[in-house]
Amino acid sequence: MHGKFKGKHAIVTGGARSIGFEIARQFCAAGAMVSIFDYNQEALEIATTTLTNEGYRVNPFLVDVSDQLQVNLAVDRAEEIAPVDVLVNNAGICLVTPFLNIEAEEWQKTLDTNLSGAFYVAQRVCRYMARRGKGVVLNMSSKNGLDGEFGHAHYNSSKAGLILLTKTIALELAHLGIRANAVCPGYIRTAMNTEVDSDEFVEEFEDRYIPGGRVGKVTDIAPIFLFLASDDAEYINGQTFVLDGGQLAGQKPWKWLLEEIKL
Ligand SMILES: NC(=O)c1ccc[n+]([C@@H]2O[C@H](COP(=O)([O-])OP(=O)(O)OC[C@H]3O[C@@H](n4cnc5c(N)ncnc54)[C@H](O)[C@@H]3O)[C@@H](O)[C@H]2O)c1
Repeated sequence: MHGKFKGKHAIVTGGARSIGFEIARQFCAAGAMVSIFDYNQEALEIATTTLTNEGYRVNPFLVDVSDQLQVNLAVDRAEEIAPVDVLVNNAGICLVTPFLNIEAEEWQKTLDTNLSGAFYVAQRVCRYMARRGKGVVLNMSSKNGLDGEFGHAHYNSSKAGLILLTKTIALELAHLGIRANAVCPGYIRTAMNTEVDSDEFVEEFEDRYIPGGRVGKVTDIAPIFLFLASDDAEYINGQTFVLDGGQLAGQKPWKWLLEEIKL
C-alpha cells in the first residue's frame, strides 16, 4: 500500500489510540493526510505528536462524535483543509452491563456514540463526497453486531445498527460514486478492554472461543481498511467483513476430538 494514498485525505474517528490510531498510522504510511476526530484531548495530542514526528501530515480535531454540531463544524473545517476521500467511522464505547440492569442513560450514551455518531459524521462527509461523485465510508462494527454477547445489549444493538446503516448508505449513494462497507472485528486486545479484562480472562477467552488460539492485535485489523478504501475494492459495496480468528465459524471442537485428527 506504500504511496497508494498519496494526495488523499482520510478522516479517522476515534483515531487517537488503539485500533483507530493504527488505522490512522497505516493510512499515513500509505501517503494519506489524516484528520483524527477524538474527544480524548491527551490521547489526541500524543497521537498527533507521534505521527508528526514520524514525518506524517496529521490534523487533530477535538470533537465528540455524539454531538452533531461539533461534528458538522469539524467536518467542514477538515474539508477546507482538503477534500475528504475516505471516512473511517471507528469511534466507539463498550460498557458491560446485563440487560435488566441497563439504565436509560447508559443505553442512550452507547447508541449516541456508536450509532448516531457514525451517522452524523457520515452524513456530513457524504454530502461533500456526493457533490464530487467519489468517496469511501468504512464503519467499524463488531462481531457483536452479528452475534450477541451477554452484558452487551446496547453495544450489540449499536453495532448491528451500523451494519444496516452501512448497507443503506451503499444502496442510496452508489450512483453518486460513494461506497460503504463495514468491518466486524472479534476480540482485539486494546486500551478499551485492558482496562477491564485481566490476562487470565483473555487466556480463558482464547481457549474457549477462538479456533486460531489467540485474540487479535490492532495490526490484524488496520490493513483491511486500506484495502477497502483503495481502488482495488472498487466493486465491493455494502458488505460486512468479519475478522475474528475464526470465532464465528462455529463452536470450538472438544480437545479429545482434535487429537483424533489423522495428519
Ligand atoms: N477492541 C475490541 O475488541 C473491538 C472489537 C470489535 C470492535 N471494536 C470497535 O473498534 C473501535 C475501536 O475500539 P478500540 O478497542 O480501539 O477502543 P479504544 O477505547 O481503545 O479507542 C476508542 C477511541 O475512540 C474515542 N472515542 C470514544 N468515544 C468518542 C466520542 N464520543 N467522540 C470522539 N471520540 C470518541 C476514544 O477517545 C478512543 O480514542 C470501537 O468502535 C469498538 O467498538 C473493538
